Amino acid sequence: MKVVTCIAPVNIAVIKYWGKKDEELILPLNDSISASLSTDIMCAKTTVMASPSFEKNRFWLNGKIQCMETNTRLSNCIEMVKKRADSSLEHYNWNISICSENNFPTAAGLASSAAGYACLVYALAKLYKIEGEISEIARQGSGSACRSVYGGWVQWHSGTLPTGEDSIASQIAPASHWPEMRALVLVANDSRKKFGSTLGMYRTTKTSTLIWERVNKVVPERVKQMRQAILSKNFESFAEITMKDSNSMHAVILDTYPPGIYMNDISQAMVNLVHCYNDYKGHNSVAYTFDAGPNACIYLLESEVDEFIAVVNYVFPKLKSVPNSEYYKGYPLPDTTKYVKNKELNVSPCSEGMLKYIIYTRVGEGPSVLVDQKEHLLQQNGLPKH
Ligand code: DP6
Repeated sequence: MKVVTCIAPVNIAVIKYWGKKDEELILPLNDSISASLSTDIMCAKTTVMASPSFEKNRFWLNGKIQCMETNTRLSNCIEMVKKRADSSLEHYNWNISICSENNFPTAAGLASSAAGYACLVYALAKLYKIEGEISEIARQGSGSACRSVYGGWVQWHSGTLPTGEDSIASQIAPASHWPEMRALVLVANDSRKKFGSTLGMYRTTKTSTLIWERVNKVVPERVKQMRQAILSKNFESFAEITMKDSNSMHAVILDTYPPGIYMNDISQAMVNLVHCYNDYKGHNSVAYTFDAGPNACIYLLESEVDEFIAVVNYVFPKLKSVPNSEYYKGYPLPDTTKYVKNKELNVSPCSEGMLKYIIYTRVGEGPSVLVDQKEHLLQQNGLPKH
């Protein structure tokens, strides 16, 4: 029996991927850039186990058995890893059990499939001892997964080859390059999405005219500026491009016919809060970005966290019945009672309970192997422990 357990990060894009030029190979219309968030707080965890006694391949996601035969993205990933492996490995032809878990809500627009596929491909690569570039394989599980194969700041190059060989991710800078960078995930709603990104972006490419302006003109320019902002740690410019690009993606989603709408009234209130806060500060000190869901990821520097979280608590009061331990997740948040509401901040509070919870995290490292046997999600018989 052979077994490997790994973890992989969630990534949140600052230049968004929305739209494919090849649906099967998952080739994006434009380059995108993201940060991988600390696996200490949010991660996917996957155990892969191969054994000569397993009668078939099996896969559990968050405790539920999945049908492997109909999941072409999953079988493509397994096949591509095995194609690169040495077929003389003892366990090459053994069946495998896979068990994967996220420690955050699946399909709530919190990039769960990205972390999940990156983790799966990373674990399979370790099991079958393949070396080198694996982001091309993770991409075929879920496009954005290719960025979670690396830590820190990552660019997914759309590539020009029809085979997709050059549609790979590469690291722009490690997390240590900008150690002050933090992220606050403001969770408005953690229920499942109405329709996923795959269908949403397919409809956009078929019906939106605005997408071509975005893909051909807006994004190529922004990618250059964003790389520069990251490399020179220019938060002002980083924040402006991040917010504009999130707005641009949601604009093309709205330009889709029938229109897509992922952000809700609470998301709009978050956008308003960030702009009011930046106005009051006199410069961009926090930046929002929204994926295919209503939750905001706020990028900000460590020095800004105390004051901004005080404002979030003022504008989005917590329901008194929800304990702090369920509301504030991630790294410990500072005590904000010392900040009294500044009258110049022109924003009124919403009613209680608009946010379900807040996750405080930072930019972090890429996937890693967990060597401790206790970490395995599968028992020796290939069935999940939980
Ligand atoms: C909105 O990677 O989930 O998060 O490639 O079809 O699986 P598929 O889509 P997916 O797209 C996520 C897009 C996004 C923006 C981004 O992460 O860049």
